[in-house]
This record gives sequence, structure tokens and C-alpha cells, in this order.
Amino acid sequence: MEVVCKQTREGVAQAAASRIAAVVASKPRAVLGLATGSSPSLIYAELASWVATGRLDMAEVSAFALSEYVGLPPGHPRSYAYEIGQVVTKALGLDPVHVHVPDGFAVNVENAAERYEQNLAAAGGIDTQLLGIGTNGHIGFNEPTSSLASRTRIKTLSPTTRSDNARFFTAPEEVPTHCITQGIGTILEARQLLLVAQGSSKSAAVAAAVEGPVSSMCPASALQLHPHATVIIDEAAAAELTLLDYYRHVYDNKPS
Ligand code: GLP
Repeated sequence: MEVVCKQTREGVAQAAASRIAAVVASKPRAVLGLATGSSPSLIYAELASWVATGRLDMAEVSAFALSEYVGLPPGHPRSYAYEIGQVVTKALGLDPVHVHVPDGFAVNVENAAERYEQNLAAAGGIDTQLLGIGTNGHIGFNEPTSSLASRTRIKTLSPTTRSDNARFFTAPEEVPTHCITQGIGTILEARQLLLVAQGSSKSAAVAAAVEGPVSSMCPASALQLHPHATVIIDEAAAAELTLLDYYRHVYDNKPS
């Protein structure tokens, strides 16, 4: 996979936003896969500033969010549907009809997962899937030991993820116990994967994903199976990579 190391969080955001903008410029009806959490927030802000200044038009883009908590009612400020609505749909000028978030409040979440997969197939699959990474190596909400062939489904959140995400809630016990998430098999079907990570809390997970064995113990290591995966990280997140100098050399000497 391609590894791009930037000095700062802002550098990561600009590099990732540029790649997304290039996809949209070449295909105005692109289908984007959206990550949530803190990692992509600067990327969305960067894209929003380009849209606001007329440098980018995303009005025809469709989008699929990776995951959602189970049990949060529509409009709940901590739901990913709400977050995506604010920082993507509104801020980037997407048509809400073309923005899909797995329905974690459905009476039957398994059926909702199937519907989500059907909508994804009907849209022609994802052109570029943006991903963050959990401190335990999860992508989407595919926790360690998730099947590398898994599809969109309901999952139990690990204690690590619930504790990592408690910062977004007023009390740790308010973090939902379950989620609905694209599977790793679903994620691997996107035509391009773009994983971003910033900060030292992600350095071990990034090293395991990029340089460790492909293993369900580190779901992000499944990116090694993808022909077009890019990892964009800052210096702190890159700190445990043993081949960092080599990745820099490859990046600086890319064939034109
Ligand atoms: C969350 C999300 C993931 C995200 C990851 C990292 O729980 N489900 O999509 O990539 O964990 O979160 P953050 O970017 O806030 O560190």
C-alpha cells in the first residue's frame, strides 16, 4: 500500500482532501464512503472551504457512511447520521437523498443492514472510501476478530472502543453497546481506500495495519489485500513504522 507521511494533522487533511477533490473533479457523480469520528473532521472542513469558495462542486456526489450506533434516535447529536448531516451533507452541499447512513434505530437492524448493502450495490459501489482507524486497529466498527469477509451487520462494540468514544458522550455508560457497520468484505470492494490517522495513540495500530500480518486481530491490516489503498498519517501516528524512510523514498520518487 502507499504510505504518505505528513508533518501535521493539517497536512494529512490537505493531502486527503486533495485526493477526494481529484476523484470528484474527474467524476462529479462519484460515490464516496464516509468515515466519522475525529480523524476525518479536518478533511471535511478543508473540503467545505473549497466548496464555499467555488473551487469544488460536490452537489452530485453520493455518499455512504461506514457505520452507526444502534439505539440512538434520529437527530441524536451523537449519532453518526447527525454528524454526517452537519459536517458533510450540509457543509459540502450534498443532496440528502443521496447520503446513506446505516439505520441503527431500525426495528430490525439485520434488515437495515441488508437494505444498506442493496442501496450500495444500486449506486454502483464506492469509488473512494475514507477510513479512520481505532486504537485497537478497527475500521468502521469492525472490531478485532471480525471476519475479513464480513458484510454490513450488527456488531458488539469492544470495551476499548466504548472507552475511546466516551469522550463524545456526557458519561461513559451512555456510549451504545452495539453498532451497525459495513463489513471488512464490503470495505474491500471500494475501488480506492484512503485511511487517515493522526496522533501517537494511533501509532501501534498503524504499524500493525501496514507492517503486521494480515489478521482479523487488526482489521485495518485487511488493507494489505486491496490493490489501491493509501494510508495518510502524521509524524506521531507514523512513529512505530519500521520502514518509514523507505515509504518517504518511494513517495519522493514516484514514477510520473
Ligand atoms: C470510531 C469510528 C471509526 C473511526 C475510529 C477512530 O469509533 N467508528 O470509523 O475511524 O473509531 O475514531 P477517531 O477518528 O475519533 O479516533
